[in-house]
Amino acid sequence: MRTLSDHIFDLAQNSVNAGAGNITIVVEESLPDNKFTIRIEDDGHGIKPEHLPKVKDTFFTTRPSGKRNVGLGISLMEATCQRSGGYLRVESTFRHGTTLTAAMEHDHTDRPPLGDLPAIFTSLLLSSLENKVKWVLEHGFNDKKYRLRNRATMEELNILSYSDSEARTKLLELIKRKEKEIQP
Ligand SMILES: Nc1ncnc2c1ncn2[C@@H]1O[C@H](COP(=O)(O)OP(=O)(O)O)[C@@H](O)[C@H]1O
Ligand SMILES: [Mg+2]
Repeated sequence: MRTLSDHIFDLAQNSVNAGAGNITIVVEESLPDNKFTIRIEDDGHGIKPEHLPKVKDTFFTTRPSGKRNVGLGISLMEATCQRSGGYLRVESTFRHGTTLTAAMEHDHTDRPPLGDLPAIFTSLLLSSLENKVKWVLEHGFNDKKYRLRNRATMEELNILSYSDSEARTKLLELIKRKEKEIQP
């Protein structure tokens, strides 16, 4: 089964593929509101108005065919949300960007576990070596949260370059520490 972190990683690739320079991912958990929300916002090339009604369809894609698993990312996320008492919303302005909001009931038995968010956040930050994306990555749990930005995170860790052999380990440890601070 896909964890929510797997979904996040997959959907973030859509934003990268759309040529986004800035991608913000906000994971928000609230037990009092019984809500689990994931928002992915980018300033990529957006979705053409005539494509917007189709992006949730299984197998709809504008990626070159021949690749595996084409057109499944959004439809799988929507199915997961709907099974978990929630919904998926896709908003996009062509040439300006796209915002995806996935909402689920926190305590729903069909809501997948969050999975390994530190590993996913680490991989996304490290990917900026190649794609130059400026990431804002946030996880909130009830009234606590942490936020990561590429440059600030590098400075916090004294990493000079993401290609440092220690960068991955340092990032993972930092994010795990931040996770512990927000979880009850
Ligand atoms: N963030 C985004 N920016 C621009 N287009 C997007 C974005 N997310 C999805 N799309 C459009 O929706 C289509 C379907 O996305 P998805 O279900 O993840 O399948 P795939 O990535 O395999 O094409 C993409 O091919 C693309 O045309
Ligand atoms: Mg995709």
